[in-house]
Amino acid sequence: MLFGYILLSLASCALCNPWADPLPKPQSIDWLDEDVKLLDPNLSLVTNCTKNVVRNAFSRATDTIFSLRYYPATHQEDPEDYEPFPSGTASLKKRDDTPVTISTVELSVVDETADLQMGVDESYNLTVGDDKVSISAGTVWGALYAFTTLQQLVIYNATTGFYIEGAVDIVDYPLYEHRGVMIDSGRNYLYIDTILQNIEMMSLAKLNVLHWHLEDAQSWPIQMESLPEMQEDSYTSYQQYSPEMLDEVVTFAKGYGVRVIPELDMPGHSNAGWEKADPDAVACGKSWWSNDVYLKHTANEPPPGQLDIIYNGTYDLVEKVYNEVSSHFDDDVFHVGMDELQDNCYNFSSYVQDWFAENTTRTYNDLLQYWVDKALPIFLNDTLHPNRTLMAWEDVVISSPHASDLPKDKLILQSWNGASNLKNLTEAGYKVVVSNSDWLYLDCGYGGWVTNDPRYADVEANYAFNYGQGGSWCAPYKTWQRIYTFNFTSNLTESESSLIAGAEACLWSEQADSTVMIQKIWPRAAALSELVWSGNLDDTGMMRVSEMAPRILNFREYLVAQGFPASPLVPQYCLQHPHACDLYLNQTIFDAY
Ligand SMILES: *[C@@H]1O[C@H](CO)[C@@H](O)[C@H](O)[C@H]1NC(C)=O
Ligand SMILES: *[C@@H]1O[C@H](CO)[C@@H](O)[C@H](O)[C@H]1NC(C)=O
Ligand SMILES: *[C@@H]1O[C@H](CO)[C@@H](O)[C@H](O)[C@H]1NC(C)=O
Ligand SMILES: *[C@@H]1O[C@H](CO)[C@@H](O)[C@H](O)[C@H]1NC(C)=O
Ligand SMILES: *[C@@H]1O[C@H](CO)[C@@H](O)[C@H](O)[C@H]1NC(C)=O
Ligand SMILES: *[C@@H]1O[C@H](CO)[C@@H](O)[C@H](O)[C@H]1NC(C)=O
Ligand SMILES: *[C@@H]1O[C@H](CO)[C@@H](O)[C@H](O)[C@H]1NC(C)=O
Ligand SMILES: *[C@@H]1O[C@H](CO)[C@@H](O)[C@H](O)[C@H]1NC(C)=O
Ligand SMILES: *[C@@H]1O[C@H](CO)[C@@H](O)[C@H](O)[C@H]1NC(C)=O
Ligand SMILES: *[C@@H]1O[C@H](CO)[C@@H](O)[C@H](O)[C@H]1NC(C)=O
Ligand SMILES: *[C@@H]1O[C@H](CO)[C@@H](O)[C@H](O)[C@H]1NC(C)=O
Repeated sequence: MLFGYILLSLASCALCNPWADPLPKPQSIDWLDEDVKLLDPNLSLVTNCTKNVVRNAFSRATDTIFSLRYYPATHQEDPEDYEPFPSGTASLKKRDDTPVTISTVELSVVDETADLQMGVDESYNLTVGDDKVSISAGTVWGALYAFTTLQQLVIYNATTGFYIEGAVDIVDYPLYEHRGVMIDSGRNYLYIDTILQNIEMMSLAKLNVLHWHLEDAQSWPIQMESLPEMQEDSYTSYQQYSPEMLDEVVTFAKGYGVRVIPELDMPGHSNAGWEKADPDAVACGKSWWSNDVYLKHTANEPPPGQLDIIYNGTYDLVEKVYNEVSSHFDDDVFHVGMDELQDNCYNFSSYVQDWFAENTTRTYNDLLQYWVDKALPIFLNDTLHPNRTLMAWEDVVISSPHASDLPKDKLILQSWNGASNLKNLTEAGYKVVVSNSDWLYLDCGYGGWVTNDPRYADVEANYAFNYGQGGSWCAPYKTWQRIYTFNFTSNLTESESSLIAGAEACLWSEQADSTVMIQKIWPRAAALSELVWSGNLDDTGMMRVSEMAPRILNFREYLVAQGFPASPLVPQYCLQHPHACDLYLNQTIFDAY
């Protein structure tokens, strides 16, 4: 009976199953008629906005539309009566009169001066009428998103040319202000071209934060003017980021409405670079990283190394390094790590051991608090960034060891362990970015990187390993469905939920570099993008996974058509037979969940 009801309600829409299906789905998209609007390939922009970033984005969108000649690879259809896919053709709806042609996009931007910073207005409204496309946007950043939506509304048909399927009204704005992808160039170097490609894809999906974990204990790829010896710890002399390259990424990203939040992971995960600048600033860098042969575990990965928290020279070095790296990034937010501190590492520091001996009631929590008290004032005293807000991994509050006194108004915590931590952190009043590994770590499920792991031997003692996690600490692989169905606020009160700034999908790079980075991130990041832009529920409050399927499958084809090597998600059959690969045919396409 539910099915009958849905059919009835579908029957009342002007264009029930449009081929165009922008991702992320706008907050509201109303097709008003089925009268095709042709697009003049000489589409012009009429606007009172004076900013080049908008002109450039418009050229980008129209260049893509008119050179790509994209034809949707799949679309929404009722599962009961779909026809086989008409390859490469879409019939226009029958009309007696000649379709109208649109040759103008009218754009008004309310505040064209707003800088691209956390919380900037990204809303826009877009209307396709009979003679024009009208866009109104709060800021230029909203205008950029209007264009990526427009790009995804236009269809190309060889006979007819470029067209939009009917008049449409879109009202759109994001649910969350922080919508990110994290990349890691410390474990393996990432070439700039790959990073820029990733930024292009992010903007098509309306993701607005590139969190760049620049370095780690293994390598220091950043060229430093004040401390050139640090880059001796890059993997090779050509796997370094020059100041010009950092600036290029930031400038390019801004042109796409993407903020770049750099991360220097301190005081843990610190060896490469630091040890060249001042060997005393790094504790346990020469210890064996794990197992019990040499005194126990000093790191989760080789090589170990943590900044010496008691040695005074550490802070002189930290100030120099932070100020120089920070000067290349114009975002108000900077990520300072503070995760996975290993107590054992400081068995190798006489400074720390003397400090404990001086007052035997001191604990490792006190030690981390000492770091917070000395280092945060340095990070917050950034003359180029008077509005500096710091991001840090949740460990500094919730792991062992942890600090107890932190400036909540200046700190955003990134949650990556169990999702129950979201409750603990927001209950305690912290602003939080969600990236819990059980849902949002894109590196999970690819096995392990330990080179001689004996557990692969197929003996009974290893069955749990080989028939379970298989060496991936966060197995299994997170599918787009897993990501899309993450109800991360489900256990939070309204006021706790209001502290969630957004979410990030993270690709750690122990087993990723430029050769596979795009495939591992895309199109799965698009599932996160819709989740944090307009959510995962339809108008009736039902989970819209079935509806999302054709949208994300098409979005992947849209990326591939532009030359990006995004991974396939299904046999192509599933695109050519919309919803044929759903499992529950007796349910409507919208309520399988
Ligand atoms: C395209 O539009 C511009 C401005 O509206 C006009 O000057 C130009 O002649 C047009 N070009 C073509 C090929 O129609
Ligand atoms: C394009 O649209 C026309 C008119 O509806 C239709 O007859 C044709 O099959 C479509 N496809 C191609 C490739 O022209
Ligand atoms: C552009 O038009 C909008 C809407 O009328 C207005 O709010 C805005 O101030 C105008 N911007 C400029 C730069 O004139
Ligand atoms: C878009 O439309 C909504 C509702 O019609 C309105 O509240 C909002 O201010 C508009 N936004 C912009 C950027 O014009
Ligand atoms: C480190 O600095 C503090 C405060 O400036 C000072 O009291 C202490 O003696 C210094 N320690 C060393 C080892 O230099
Ligand atoms: C010793 O350390 C503890 C824990 O940090 C602190 O509460 C106490 O005041 C310290 N005692 C002295 C004499 O500094
Ligand atoms: C902040 O930085 C400025 C410029 O580097 C420096 O002069 C000043 O002493 C610093 N203030 C604090 C409180 O560290
Ligand atoms: C800092 O933030 C305030 C309030 O949002 C804003 O008015 C000011 O322009 C910002 N300053 C800088 C340098 O970004
Ligand atoms: C989170 O809060 C729960 C409930 O108060 C508590 O049992 C748990 O220990 C807390 N977890 C952490 C990591 O603090
Ligand atoms: C998420 O929440 C929705 C709405 O409350 C619910 O229908 C759905 O089952 C939940 N999904 C998961 C995976 O928990
Ligand atoms: C919410 O709480 C339930 C019950 O404790 C738990 O099973 C679930 O994993 C939690 N979900 C999230 C997203 O925290």
